[in-house]
Amino acid sequence: MATNDNNNFQAIIAHAKEYGFVFPSSEIYDGLSAVYDYGPWGSELKKNIRDYWWKSMTQLHEDIVGVDAAIFMHPTTWKASGHVDNFSDPMIDNKDSKKRYRVDHLIEAHAEGLPPKEADALLSTMDQLLAKDDYNGLKKLIDEYKIKCAISGTSNWTEIRQFNLMFKTEFGAIASDNDEENIVYLRPETAQGIFVNFLNVQKTARMKVPFGIAQTGKAFRNEIVARQFIFRMREFEQMEMQFFVRPGTEGKWYQHWKTERLNWHLSLGIPAEKFRYHDHTKLAHYAKEACDIEFEFPIGFKELEGIHSRSDYDLSQHQQYSKKKIQYYDNDIDPATGKPYGNYVPYVVETSIGLDRMFLAILSNAYQEETIPKEDGTNDSRVVLHIPPKLAPVKLAILPLTRKDGLPEIARSIMNDCRQEFYCFYEEKDTIGKRYRRMDAIGTPFCITVDHQTKDDHTVTIRYRDTMTQERLPISRVIELVKEKIR
Ligand code: GAP
Repeated sequence: MATNDNNNFQAIIAHAKEYGFVFPSSEIYDGLSAVYDYGPWGSELKKNIRDYWWKSMTQLHEDIVGVDAAIFMHPTTWKASGHVDNFSDPMIDNKDSKKRYRVDHLIEAHAEGLPPKEADALLSTMDQLLAKDDYNGLKKLIDEYKIKCAISGTSNWTEIRQFNLMFKTEFGAIASDNDEENIVYLRPETAQGIFVNFLNVQKTARMKVPFGIAQTGKAFRNEIVARQFIFRMREFEQMEMQFFVRPGTEGKWYQHWKTERLNWHLSLGIPAEKFRYHDHTKLAHYAKEACDIEFEFPIGFKELEGIHSRSDYDLSQHQQYSKKKIQYYDNDIDPATGKPYGNYVPYVVETSIGLDRMFLAILSNAYQEETIPKEDGTNDSRVVLHIPPKLAPVKLAILPLTRKDGLPEIARSIMNDCRQEFYCFYEEKDTIGKRYRRMDAIGTPFCITVDHQTKDDHTVTIRYRDTMTQERLPISRVIELVKEKIR
């Protein structure tokens, strides 16, 4: 698939809707910008991705435990974390179209239309100016390159201003506009629910540094430029893990998690060339070192996951604002002094991935429009989702060849046994070919067909989604075979 393949992207979005993966939110009222609902197969796929991440982080790591913190947090949390003051993007408005743009997105979009050398020069100047928060310099750059609004076609811009991305709401029965005390925020990241629980978790689970805390859950950001399907949403889900380490060891752990997270992506069988690291030059307000794992979406290489070395910034800030000691006593012996390391505020290396973005990565990698040559020289075609079997919404479809001769009863009985083990789908309607195509379209890796031979020898035909090959096997082998392939 070519980079920035908009037709392909539009086809994936249409397919996601048609086959029950992703719907625009409240669509009967014309939808809500950058908010989406997951349908029957989308919610299964999303759950499977979440479970795969959760298992790999907690069950398979003795040194990581999980939490499930509330979305609402004490408002001081966000003052301490820096989000009230710093979680904002530089924005610019076009005076003619009234359209608002994130400055970096506006410049990046312009760079896409330039020859590569010129584009690199523009982007590197932009990065330097962003790193210095030099808004006058950025405005000059926009003027110098005569960057235009895509709607009005003019370069009639306002000055650049900061725009905070947090959603506010009121807590309690009485709400009024100037009742600042009742204001709470919808969390813009799940990480803070982990930081404020650091001591609760460390003490109750008796964890020793280095150790991690994992969490999945909703996050909310009032994104300004949100027009890339589920890539950038206003309500989304994160899967985050904060790894608490002894100060001075954070560099080693940062490298460790960079490698480990890329390996996690590769464990799903997605080709390595679809991923790349992007080291940050402009760092978030809390970060000391940071990189993205980028994925080649149909809209080009974009951030899928962030790995951030956050120093002791968050815990120290919460210590200061809560006036409660948030420290760890390390009784391991420091070889330099021969004495225990003692009390310190741990440093943090964070891995943070958007579940919806991972969903889009899986979906766009899986989507294929295939031509199938037929024996008579003509061609057939199919749309198939090559979703990794362990993540597929439906693992096995059970299809009786006809609706008569007792075949549905046999198929139902197989279904009853198999669905205890994994998600199954039963269907009698239409020709077997049409049923296979529908299963291809939702990414079902295996279909079994119950036919007349089944009645004689208790075997069924299994058909593999990716190769479309078929073989016969005893009914008694079906569960074992599917479980082997989805491990
Ligand atoms: N706690 C660190 C943090 O939140 P981030 O880079 O802002 O870091 C982490 O976000 C990940 O969350 C991103 O790599 C992306 O996958 C996902 N993400 C962020 N904003 C998003 C949005 N508006 N829509 C969907 N996913 C988003």
